[in-house]
Amino acid sequence: MKIAVLYGGTSAERDISLVTGRAIGLALAGKGHDVLLVDPARGDAPVGPKQAAAAAKIGAEPPDIASPGGGVGEGGSALDAVRGRAVTEADVVFVALHGGTGEDGTIQGLLELAGKRYTGSGVLASALAMDKRAAKVLFREVDVPTPRWSVIRCDDAVGGGGGPRFPDDVPVSRVSPEKMSRAALGQSAGWGADRFGGYPLIVKPNDQGSTVGLTLVREEGELAAAIGLAAEFSRNVLVEEYIPGREMTVAVLADTALPVVEIVPDGGLYDYQRKYTEGQSSYTCPALIPESLSSELERLALLAYGVLGCVGYARVDFRVTDELEPFCLEVNTVPGMTAVSLVPMAAEAVGIGFPDLVEKIVELA
Ligand SMILES: Nc1ncnc2c1ncn2[C@@H]1O[C@H](COP(=O)(O)OP(=O)(O)O)[C@@H](O)[C@H]1O
Ligand SMILES: [Mg+2]
Repeated sequence: MKIAVLYGGTSAERDISLVTGRAIGLALAGKGHDVLLVDPARGDAPVGPKQAAAAAKIGAEPPDIASPGGGVGEGGSALDAVRGRAVTEADVVFVALHGGTGEDGTIQGLLELAGKRYTGSGVLASALAMDKRAAKVLFREVDVPTPRWSVIRCDDAVGGGGGPRFPDDVPVSRVSPEKMSRAALGQSAGWGADRFGGYPLIVKPNDQGSTVGLTLVREEGELAAAIGLAAEFSRNVLVEEYIPGREMTVAVLADTALPVVEIVPDGGLYDYQRKYTEGQSSYTCPALIPESLSSELERLALLAYGVLGCVGYARVDFRVTDELEPFCLEVNTVPGMTAVSLVPMAAEAVGIGFPDLVEKIVELA
C-alpha cells in the first residue's frame, strides 16, 4: 500500500510526533509498504522513512513553537501537506501528529474533505478528546469517574468564541495572564480549593498534552502563576481536584482494551521530562493490581473511548487512589508511538509487536 505519515506539525508536542512518525514510517516500510513522511509545518516536502530517522530527537523541554525558527513552520502549511503529492497519492494517511491541529479534528476534517482514508478517530471524537472538559462532561454521562473540576474561561473579554459555555464555567477577562490570574483569584469562591475541599489542586490548559503548562498547586500563593502558565497554552484553564495515588493507562485497540500499564514516575508528576527521558519513569504491564481493578479499568476505558466515539485506537489515562478508586483523566486519540511509549508496551504484552500494531492500525483505517 502507499502510505503517507503526517508527523511533526506545529504543536508543543512536535518533537514527540517526529519520533512517533519516524518509528511508524520505518515499521510500515519494513512491512513492505511504500511510505512517505510529510511534516505539515514544512508543507509538501515528503521524505522517506530513513531520511526522517536522522532528524527526530526529543529535547528535554517542549520546542518553543511561538518563536520563529524554533524548528517549526518553514513556509509550509497543513493544507499544502494534504494537497501535496504524498497525501493525494496515498491509499491511507497515518496521522502521527500529537496535540494541536493534528489531534483536535482539524486535520481529520481536511482529510475528510480530501476524501482520504486516515488512521484513528474522526473529526468529532478527536475534537471532544482534545477538549478535556467536554470529554469529562461525557464521562460523567456514562458514569466514568473523573476528578471534580472548574474551568476558568479566558476569552470572555474578546467576544466569546472558544467553544460552548457550561454552567460551572468561571468567566475571566482576558487582559494579560498576570491580571487575569488576579481576577480569577478575586472570584475564587466556588471554583477552587473551597470547592474541592482544599489543596493541592491541578491547574492545566484545557486542550494540551504531554503535561505541558500543568502545575500541581500546593497552596493559594502558587495559584496565580499556575493559572497564568496554563493560560499561555489555552483559552480555557482547567482546575481539578488532585487525586493522590498511582498512575495507570489503558490502551484500546480495535474496540478491545489491552492490559493495564502502571507508570511510576521517578519522583513527582508524570511530566514532560519523565514522559520522554528513558529511565525517568518505570512501567509495569500488565500492572500488578487485583484482577477486579484491572477489569474495572478496562471497562471504564472502553466506556470513555466509546462515549467520545473514538475509532481504531486510543489511550485512556487514569489516576487510582490507594483505596483502588479509579478516576479517568483523559483520552488520547493520537497516543505516542515511540520506543518508550505505552500503547506499544501494552500491545507487546499480548504478543502484538510494534510493526504488527502499526499495520493493524492501518488496516482499521
Ligand atoms: N487531577 C489530577 N490529579 C492528580 N494528578 C493529575 C491530575 N491531572 C493530571 N495529573 C498528572 O498530570 C499528568 C498529565 O495530565 P493529563 O490530564 O493526562 O494531561 P496530558 O497528558 O494531556 O498533559 C497525569 O498523567 C498525572 O500525572
Ligand atoms: Mg495524559
